Amino acid sequence: MQTSCVVTGGARGIGRGIAELMVARGHHVVIGDVDGWAAAATAAEVGAVAGLAQDVRDPDSHRLVAEEAARHGRLVAWFNNAGVGDDGTLAVLTEEQVRRLVEVNLLGATWGTRAALAAFGPAGGDVVNVASLSGLGPVPGYSMYAATKAAVVSLSASVNAEPPRGVRVHALCPDGVDTAMLAAQDPDGLGSQLTWSGGPILGVSEVAAAAVDLVGSRRVVRTVPAWRGGVVRGAALAPGSLGPLARLFAAQGRRAMKKR
Ligand SMILES: NC(=O)c1ccc[n+]([C@@H]2O[C@H](COP(=O)([O-])OP(=O)(O)OC[C@H]3O[C@@H](n4cnc5c(N)ncnc54)[C@H](O)[C@@H]3O)[C@@H](O)[C@H]2O)c1
Repeated sequence: MQTSCVVTGGARGIGRGIAELMVARGHHVVIGDVDGWAAAATAAEVGAVAGLAQDVRDPDSHRLVAEEAARHGRLVAWFNNAGVGDDGTLAVLTEEQVRRLVEVNLLGATWGTRAALAAFGPAGGDVVNVASLSGLGPVPGYSMYAATKAAVVSLSASVNAEPPRGVRVHALCPDGVDTAMLAAQDPDGLGSQLTWSGGPILGVSEVAAAAVDLVGSRRVVRTVPAWRGGVVRGAALAPGSLGPLARLFAAQGRRAMKKR
């Protein structure tokens, strides 16, 4: 029987890369995106079966996307990829930005996961939540973004161990990726300087491949690159020492940004 999958925020960036790979693996892919025109255009370009307007903040939108996927085959995978990346310290973010980060990044993935759980058949399936390396430890300059991603990692690990059996929930935690989201960050902000301190910025194709490889695996949390996960988790164990270290890394990031 034909299989289907859903990619939220799939009009561009990492989501588009995931959609392309899932099409190549033979699945019927449904792309959702708040930019419906871009979703439809991307679907046509990558060979997905549908590209729909979807705001992940609306739980009903996930049910409609799930119904569309069911029309094209047995739903086997759901990628909660849509996200927003407002940077800035907590003191400078507007109330609107704080709400949007929580509603898109955390609630969007929550509603998507619930829709997937309801739509998977008896054989189960895989939910891949595109979290972030920032979800594994403190990231000054990205405090609110990181908080939403930490919540997504936590949600994924807990739901993965909840019934029903046969459903696997994963959190992908990439470092900085070369997309429109990264390009929109304030280069003078502490957050982007710390992102750039970690070595080469990742390409969409390697991150999309890491997301797709989680389908069918028992791995719950995957960081890309793996060594950066160790660094950020280390900072989480000793958050008191982060201030001077963050300044050091930020200086390294500024040098890397100049060289790019
Ligand atoms: N780029 C990075 O450095 C990086 C690093 C780690 C994790 N991530 C995460 O990867 C995911 C994809 O990010 P990207 O870098 O490809 O960004 P991107 O901005 O290129 O793509 C995000 C997509 O999500 C869509 N979107 C935004 N709000 C939406 C909403 N309310 N409903 C539906 N769609 C919505 C956008 O229209 C866009 O097409 C995000 O969850 C992001 O937090 C990105």
